[in-house]
Amino acid sequence: MIGTADIAPSLLAADFGAFAEAVRQCDEAGITTYHLDVMDGHFVPNLTYGPPLVRALRPRTRATFDVHLMVEKPDWMLEEFREAGADILTVHAEACTHLHRTLGRIRDLGARAGVALNPATPLCALDHVWDLLDLVLVMTVNPGFGGQSFLGTLLPKIEAAGRHIAQLDHPVTLEVDGGIGAANIRQVAEAGATLIVAGTSVFGHPGGVAAGVSALRSALDSP
Ligand code: DX5
Ligand code: ZN
Repeated sequence: MIGTADIAPSLLAADFGAFAEAVRQCDEAGITTYHLDVMDGHFVPNLTYGPPLVRALRPRTRATFDVHLMVEKPDWMLEEFREAGADILTVHAEACTHLHRTLGRIRDLGARAGVALNPATPLCALDHVWDLLDLVLVMTVNPGFGGQSFLGTLLPKIEAAGRHIAQLDHPVTLEVDGGIGAANIRQVAEAGATLIVAGTSVFGHPGGVAAGVSALRSALDSP
């Protein structure tokens, strides 16, 4: 039995000269959550964008902005991202010296608080913060780049996170990110993911964004 999973296109795979057009096409395809990958060149060996992009796109869509912070010590930038229009702020467990405090700050700002786990980081890194969590992001690639291959060895970790979440008395989104396309999206949903990030499989689809989204939706629906 598979529950409902939403698709969150990752703008990292979009044309960096045409983000507004990417959002317009995704909105038209019925997308309601965007995944924005923020990279600082320290936590991961790549650089992307910051609050100005969130601010620029905010008036163009009513969709949820899911901001994935692949940065060292994210605390100082949380408020600016929130003011720019981020709805979900996800920090990496490996990048936060005081994770519990950081999640409290995100919630104080009125955003939903998420924690991402690198492939090598065990689920028990969340043991002391479940009560402050709105979202868990299980990485299925080593973060830093789009277009990498899905690491199937992480499926049991997704399942374990889903089992833990089911026992909580508050809702927690289970997001999975990295290397997901039509060939494996159903497997990821069956493992328990409720929010699935897709970059290359949406923006790199030869038929365009609408075809990419629809291929993922069909794969989700067909056993
Ligand atoms: C990787 C990012 C992902 C990535 C997903 O560091 O966090 O969001 O862009 O892109 P694909 O779907 O191409 O793996
Ligand atoms: Zn991401």
